[in-house]
Amino acid sequence: MHYDVLIVGSGLTGLTVALNTVDSKSVGIVTKRSTEYGASSWAQGGVAAAIDSEDTVEAHLNDTITVGSGLTDPIVAKQIIDSGPAAIDWLINNGVSFTKQPSTGNTYHLNQEGGHSHRRVIHSKDATGKAIQESLIKKIQNKSNIRILDNHIAIDIITADKLGIEPNRALGVYVLDTLTKRVTTIGADNIVLATGGAAKVYTYTTNPDTSTGDGIAMGWRAGCSVVNMEFIQFHPTCLFHPKATSFLISEAVRGEGGVLRLPTGERFMDKHDKRAELAPRDVVARAIDYEMKKRGIQCVYLDITHKSESFLKTHFPTILEKCRTLGINISKDPIPVVPAAHYTCGGIKANAYGQTEIKGLYAAGETAYSGLHGANRLASNSLLECVVVGKNVASRINIERKSHEIELPEWDDSRVIDADEAIVITHNWQELRKFMWDYVGIVRTDKRLGRALNRILLLKEEIREYYSQFHVTPDLLELRNLVQTSELIVKSASIRQESRGLHFSLNYPNKGKQSLPTILKPEYQ
Ligand code: SIN
Repeated sequence: MHYDVLIVGSGLTGLTVALNTVDSKSVGIVTKRSTEYGASSWAQGGVAAAIDSEDTVEAHLNDTITVGSGLTDPIVAKQIIDSGPAAIDWLINNGVSFTKQPSTGNTYHLNQEGGHSHRRVIHSKDATGKAIQESLIKKIQNKSNIRILDNHIAIDIITADKLGIEPNRALGVYVLDTLTKRVTTIGADNIVLATGGAAKVYTYTTNPDTSTGDGIAMGWRAGCSVVNMEFIQFHPTCLFHPKATSFLISEAVRGEGGVLRLPTGERFMDKHDKRAELAPRDVVARAIDYEMKKRGIQCVYLDITHKSESFLKTHFPTILEKCRTLGINISKDPIPVVPAAHYTCGGIKANAYGQTEIKGLYAAGETAYSGLHGANRLASNSLLECVVVGKNVASRINIERKSHEIELPEWDDSRVIDADEAIVITHNWQELRKFMWDYVGIVRTDKRLGRALNRILLLKEEIREYYSQFHVTPDLLELRNLVQTSELIVKSASIRQESRGLHFSLNYPNKGKQSLPTILKPEYQ
């Protein structure tokens, strides 16, 4: 099997690259489950772009840089934010139906979210990601040059370096068909890592099961550097309910005046920051974490009961319905919420065109560090990045010529057998996520990071041994990637001896004088 372009991941980045690649190129999309499943489909809020006549790209850029806390790359951010309005036009032209202003019916309704100086988040009710994915999937289905490989999980990238050939470049990917259990070698001239983030390294997350850091771990093993892996964004308001552990309560709820309360009913955000509930996410998540730990409470409450049921039905139908099925009427009852891991700001080092340090290998969206997010991500800048950088990646691929005709080695499983028991995988998976939550969460210390690293190194060794003895399975591959990504998070967090953006350490509670990114280079492996 050979494709001109092989995209690993079928979220918004992957689909955008595919749809913007010229029809003369063959495109394969590898997806662990199906195109409908994944973090993009779960995105509620929307896409940030300066499309209101009273808003400006300068104001959007300013907010992005402020939230990024000294680590946003201003040139990359400007390129992405300047392209925001065109990205929205592209989505609309591809059939995405964004919510209109009820009063005018022809201008778009824009949400307010934390850290934004203006209402600028265009959305499709409270299920923007789902609306976008559905529209783009329909477009993909009409393209004869694009093939979707459902139920396929990428294992590793084949590089010229690994085959002892010069010069180095990406040549293909080993892929496990999770239904037939066979590993196939897929050659490709251009490989795009668009697998999303790694929030699943934590027990509590707003992400689907698929967010296991696959692209980050694969890129690292292939020889790419990673940047700023310590900056994990915790969303302040994940629903706290035993029957819905990963359900997000969109920041747009706070944008519409939702207030955070203690179990006693008392407001507390105004005591932590003058922007109160609309402070950036790191501030709100840390304030909730502080109140929960201080008072020994299990959750706080998000109160939107000042809005009528009909307003909530129009603006937040998904949240209203989900809570209703759990016995919470959000027009009358405050919603129990806790912070949960939401977004990986760091990732594989790439530029605004998705180009990594390895020729023929691209990384974009949450898998990559492009420089847009710095030490913290401004709400709803992520879907924007997926579209703009996705289009940029395609623009580079479209001008690439055919690059190699190298015969790639088949996957060698002649020396492995079926595993006798899977309990080691399940156990290690749970153990990892638990200690990452306890030791590498919202508030960190040197001691906690050291404890986490010791455990990671033990798990890594156990997994390496298991990997070398038994046939690969999806759970094993995901666990291997989770452990690798956790190691990168912990090592990056240990290097940053200050508190900045999403990284807060009790040992170094102040921001350092210099704003430097944390770069782990491949020779560190
Ligand atoms: C939300 O709706 O709160 C999530 C949006 C985002 O993560 O940017």
